Amino acid sequence: MQSTPPIAAADRAALRPRTMVPSWALKVTMAVSGLTWLAFVLVHLVGNLKVYAGASAFNAYAAWLREVLVPLAPHGGVLWALRVVLAVLLVAHVWAAAILTARARSARGPHRARLHSWRSFVASTMPVTGLVILGFIVLHLLDLTLGVQPVAPSAFRAEGSGAFFAHENLVASLSRPWSAAVYILTMLLLAGHVLHGTTVAVQDLGGMGRTLRAGATWVGAILAVAILLGNAGIPIAVLLGVVT
Ligand code: HEM
Repeated sequence: MQSTPPIAAADRAALRPRTMVPSWALKVTMAVSGLTWLAFVLVHLVGNLKVYAGASAFNAYAAWLREVLVPLAPHGGVLWALRVVLAVLLVAHVWAAAILTARARSARGPHRARLHSWRSFVASTMPVTGLVILGFIVLHLLDLTLGVQPVAPSAFRAEGSGAFFAHENLVASLSRPWSAAVYILTMLLLAGHVLHGTTVAVQDLGGMGRTLRAGATWVGAILAVAILLGNAGIPIAVLLGVVT
């Protein structure tokens, strides 16, 4: 009687039935979650620019965020709903990106894409810039929302009895050169991520026409520049003493 040869562990893993989420569904997940986060970042940018209006205007804006739709919704209710939606979308975006990246790697084998231009460089570094932005979001929450030291400045003040210190906390954080550098560098990477991500998202949502793709690239470029200049300008303004 012939004995069956043992199956290698890697072959066993390949033979195991897997529930495969189709790549188109993962791409749509990435496009929808990415574009929703982009909308949040743009609204957040408009809010951030209030820092130039002074401490009381900025802190009043932080207080208003907690009062949206009160008394229809409880105090902080809309903010919490937004936090939950953003967290779910972020997990979905990272999950879909991880699977699509692994699939692209195994389809490509040992071959590496040649980088002909800065655009192909931006495209090929999307997973890396994505991970840096993810790390930034964690640091940013510890810094300005939760006030966890040593990420947050030692002068961090939590909200209390209806008083808000969002402006003071922001200035205290960005007065530290290393913190300002982290914010500025991340905005540079975020601009690249948005620039390429917008074009890919429109394409993955079915925008195949040349004009539509060119339009998406232009819109992506304008939004990327707005995010870079608008957001990175804030740590620079703090370091220069324009915002105090
Ligand atoms: C220079 C750039 C930025 C500045 C100055 C800034 C400033 C702030 C401030 C002051 C808060 C606290 C608001 C409050 O407690 O009322 C905040 C919260 C937050 N920021 Fe930013 N931000 C910047 C960039 C970003 C970017 C690029 C993202 C996303 C990719 C982001 C995501 C968030 C999130 C998720 C929160 C938490 C909102 C909450 O749960 O209360 N921020 N930011």
